Amino acid sequence: MNKKIIVITGSSSGIGETLANHFVKQGHTVYGLSRSKKEKLAFHHIATDVTDKENVFSSIQTIINEAGRIDVLINNAGVGMLGSIEDVRKEDFDKLVNVNIYGVIYLMQAVLPLMRGQKSGHILNVSSIASNHGLPFRGYYSASKSAIDRITESVRLENQNTGIEITTVNFGDIKTPIAESRIQSTVSNYYKKSYEKLVQLIDEEVDHGLEPEQLIPVIERLINKRNLKPHYNIGKGIQKFSVTLKRVLGQRVFEKMLARYSKLE
Ligand SMILES: NC(=O)c1ccc[n+]([C@@H]2O[C@H](COP(=O)([O-])OP(=O)(O)OC[C@H]3O[C@@H](n4cnc5c(N)ncnc54)[C@H](OP(=O)(O)O)[C@@H]3O)[C@@H](O)[C@H]2O)c1
Repeated sequence: MNKKIIVITGSSSGIGETLANHFVKQGHTVYGLSRSKKEKLAFHHIATDVTDKENVFSSIQTIINEAGRIDVLINNAGVGMLGSIEDVRKEDFDKLVNVNIYGVIYLMQAVLPLMRGQKSGHILNVSSIASNHGLPFRGYYSASKSAIDRITESVRLENQNTGIEITTVNFGDIKTPIAESRIQSTVSNYYKKSYEKLVQLIDEEVDHGLEPEQLIPVIERLINKRNLKPHYNIGKGIQKFSVTLKRVLGQRVFEKMLARYSKLE
């Protein structure tokens, strides 16, 4: 098998940690970038805050100095966020944007010149099936992932014929500790009843989501594939199907279904 130099952000937990451990076992050289670090890692770790551009550039330079090239970037670091659109605190939205959007941009800025020079490279930007829908009380999270979808479409066009493959992997619910670091913004009394019921449902969905290990075969296929599509929806059947359902039913009917499913008051 062709051994690759793979960089994964958000490697200290959940999806990123699972992928990093798998790829290193397969004999690839893996660099995990996150702020925190677990003991006795099998892969290289470089302490990195993806919201700090200088920190990102210096970590990527360290990898280039050590490994000489980067074949794959999995832009996975991200946070969830809950709260109503009306009540959001600016500092909460800024935090979300800094991790979920700027983090992805800084990493691409750091690796694109290198990959153009190599005339090869794969960039997988981790998005969400939620990017397709304005979900209640998760609107800012959905928007942050929609931004990643659009940014990815643009950067693909800007880097046509460079040999670089760029896509988003839009996950449905995956069973990870994402809820522990979720940004909890504010919800005023008007929304409280609907909100509390929905948060319970959201947590149950994550608990019943795919195991992170189930993502391995598809990610493995994508990092070895040419002519990637702009987006890949990866999740349980019904979550993947929601994207088609919205297109077929139209927004108004889909919205009614979503309201009923979300048990909105
Ligand atoms: N779980 C799901 O259901 C689901 C569904 C769709 C999409 N996703 C997306 O999948 C990705 C991974 O999520 P997960 O479920 O694996 O969550 P997780 O277990 O909470 O892992 C999040 C990772 O992001 C890292 N991170 C957060 N802020 C960072 C920062 N400022 N700098 C560097 N790293 C940072 C964390 O590391 P440190 O805290 O150590 O820095 C951690 O390693 C996210 O982009 C998420 O939006 C998840």
